[in-house]
Amino acid sequence: MSSFKKIGVFTSGGDAPGMNACVRAVVRGAIKHDLKVIGILRGYSGMIDGDMVELDDQSVSNILQTGGTILKSSRSGRFMTEEGRRAAARQLRKERIDGLIAIGGDGTLKGAAIFYEEHEIPTVGCPGTIDNDLYGTDETIGFDTAVNTAIQNIDRIRDTADAHDRLFLVEVMGRDAGYIALHSGLGGGAELVLIPETLTEMDEVKRRIHKLMSAHARSSIVVVAEGDELGGASEIASAMREDDSFSNIDLRVCILGHIQRGGAPTARDRILASRLGVAAVDALIEGHANVMVGVVNNEIKLTPSKNVWSRKKAINNELIRLTEILH
Ligand code: F6P
Repeated sequence: MSSFKKIGVFTSGGDAPGMNACVRAVVRGAIKHDLKVIGILRGYSGMIDGDMVELDDQSVSNILQTGGTILKSSRSGRFMTEEGRRAAARQLRKERIDGLIAIGGDGTLKGAAIFYEEHEIPTVGCPGTIDNDLYGTDETIGFDTAVNTAIQNIDRIRDTADAHDRLFLVEVMGRDAGYIALHSGLGGGAELVLIPETLTEMDEVKRRIHKLMSAHARSSIVVVAEGDELGGASEIASAMREDDSFSNIDLRVCILGHIQRGGAPTARDRILASRLGVAAVDALIEGHANVMVGVVNNEIKLTPSKNVWSRKKAINNELIRLTEILH
């Protein structure tokens, strides 16, 4: 019999497709253990303000397939202060919430770890971010949908690139990580993929583009991770435009931006989110705290929160090699 009676669930940081599926799994998983579930609105901001609603089985019906987050999200500056965290702990105690499930990325999990050290309210994290930059899970909730969205858009850009014999620099999200760029570049057949995990000199990029454009004598798509060390797509385009050898190349930039964050989650994200939501509740009632649930090699794994951001998940070198072979 678990010592928990009432748990809180919240989504925080950048929204990611599949967060709703995860909230649904947390709520329904917790109800099966006779727990009450409180939805904390707007992440840590709502925790500080006491902005909370009770969630039952029906509150989470019909959300599995939707993007965004019914609980809303925020990046809370106030929670970064001790005073903000004290106020949040007061609200949770007032509501008699004795455990938390945090759905979000590294900022969310870092916040949860500090909060646990200071106020000892057990928290289990679920990895929810399109960036896939968390150690302890092969994929994060939202990553697969974001990659699919990026690929659909790269396919569309390909039509114009091909029709006009243009070079397109397509920038995708990922913050400091290149997972979205690598996967969407490979799946979208990009001629070149620039990611922060591999260092490439600008001269080398230019040389490779000239080679591609003369060999294909057509169009090329370069997928650029927003965190690439050479800068985003606009910076790279500026460097090219200043170079006379690019004067005959018809160059365009397309920044995919937040369209990668929205939309219905893919089957893969729905299933991952459902597994992780239920696993997070199980972990909490088994007495785990300050851990993140993940799926590694198709098995549920718990990772101490501090490892999630201090260790780097390896980028798949085989996929990098494929982008170099298949363009
Ligand atoms: O972490 C998710 C993410 O979409 C990153 O890929 C991106 O750098 C960032 O959030 C953008 O954040 P915001 O929506 O706050 O501008």
